[in-house]
Amino acid sequence: MSDNVYYVTKRGSISHCVYPILADHWVTGNYHAIMESASLSSVLRLGMVGFGMIFEETYRPAFEAAARAPVAQFDAGPVSVRLAAVASRTGSRAARYLSRGAALPAFANFSGPGALADLITHGVDAVCIATPDDRHFEPARTALAAGKHVLIEKPSVLSLPELDELHALASQNAVLAKVVYHKLADPDHKKLRTLYQDGTLRHVNNGYCSLLEPKSISGGQFAEWITGRNPATYVACHYTKLIDFSFGPNWALDRITATGQRGIVGPASGNTWDSVQLQVVYRHPDAREAAFDIHTSWVTPDNFPGYVDQEVQFRFDNAVWAAHQRKRGVELTVENRTPDELKNTPNYHYNGTFLEPWGERAQRGYGIEVIERFFREVAFVEHGGPASGRAERLAQTRALAYNDLSADRNSVAIVQALEAILARHAAGHPNSVVRVNGPHGGLVLYEPGAAEPFVLYEGPV
Ligand SMILES: NC(=O)c1ccc[n+]([C@@H]2O[C@H](COP(=O)([O-])OP(=O)(O)OC[C@H]3O[C@@H](n4cnc5c(N)ncnc54)[C@H](O)[C@@H]3O)[C@@H](O)[C@H]2O)c1
Repeated sequence: MSDNVYYVTKRGSISHCVYPILADHWVTGNYHAIMESASLSSVLRLGMVGFGMIFEETYRPAFEAAARAPVAQFDAGPVSVRLAAVASRTGSRAARYLSRGAALPAFANFSGPGALADLITHGVDAVCIATPDDRHFEPARTALAAGKHVLIEKPSVLSLPELDELHALASQNAVLAKVVYHKLADPDHKKLRTLYQDGTLRHVNNGYCSLLEPKSISGGQFAEWITGRNPATYVACHYTKLIDFSFGPNWALDRITATGQRGIVGPASGNTWDSVQLQVVYRHPDAREAAFDIHTSWVTPDNFPGYVDQEVQFRFDNAVWAAHQRKRGVELTVENRTPDELKNTPNYHYNGTFLEPWGERAQRGYGIEVIERFFREVAFVEHGGPASGRAERLAQTRALAYNDLSADRNSVAIVQALEAILARHAAGHPNSVVRVNGPHGGLVLYEPGAAEPFVLYEGPV
């Protein structure tokens, strides 16, 4: 990391922005080294489990920005975040990152079966988990049990018993357990929710969402872990959360159905899915229903004009909301580069690299902001006021429904139901329906022709 000139203010904070009048004295060097040696700020040490595609897209830029400036400023001074350690399967990507003279100060790079334990022992305050969707629970449980704050990529976990366990551990150890649903931070989705919560859009009735990924995802990027998996679990949850968060909480999840196709990624009779169609139905307090169809795939052509195709339409008593994540106005064609290397219809709102009008190079977007918010939430709990107020700050931060695990019950219930329905389908029994909070239990699978229902989760969802 290159050296910069910073100034130290009379209040003890450090900056390299534009108000030298506030400066007490000047220092030159690496930001973190200055902060730590001079004890100018509180430093939060973060651990990262998983160092794949999503690390590169969103965590890397968030950590790199945090290496240049504090993530929060409180009365007691600034708070910085530092990536202290990484745990992954092979460690090779992290080693490559470190060897290319990376923008982050050196971090410990652990790999193999003992990597997580090594990361915890290394000393971290919080752990971010970006492993494949069926490998979130173990690292989250270990980190929470060790008293670390946790941020998990969506879907948080695959079943309600797992969610219960993580929630209980977070409560016992007085730490945060949070999940990343970056679509909630998309300005268009914020507006959708604002209009609904303010009563401009009235009474949602139904809608559809689609999220289609290219074949390179199933055939290359995720090939190592894709056997037995499906594209809905890890991307339909973007939309089930958007629906649940935007149009809730005053309604009840009622039932879930799903079907899908096989034969491209794996055998036509196997348990690896090419595409999935999920339907979730909610009941409003006035007993009217709302149904949502969510279509996902990871076998669209690689020369598709955008990285991912994402479209929604929601219908209300008095309105229709139709939105397309790629087609927000930009259409780009570059000889010999689109649509493979560069895309014709990119979404620069999620994540983009920019030459800012004021000269800086930057990478930003709502995919990165949502991680930076977690950094600030941990900073607030640990350093946002006197130690005597920590419990109150923790309670305040845990009450944020957009990312707290305690508010992820419906999303996880849908994932658990979906996985169970697809498993029965792969076993030769398609078309089950899972009912929520009915006479037989919290989450119960009804299979056509089966004499008895199968209880997936006994307690209320
Ligand atoms: N927010 C988003 O839009 C978005 C986009 C893509 C993926 N994701 C989520 O991020 C997660 C990871 O996806 P990805 O695209 O980065 O996957 P990836 O396959 O590119 O990377 C997975 C990483 O996890 C590591 N890993 C695998 N098993 C591990 C284990 N048992 N212990 C420690 N490390 C392990 C691998 O070494 C690799 O570094 C998934 O949950 C996915 O749903 C989110």
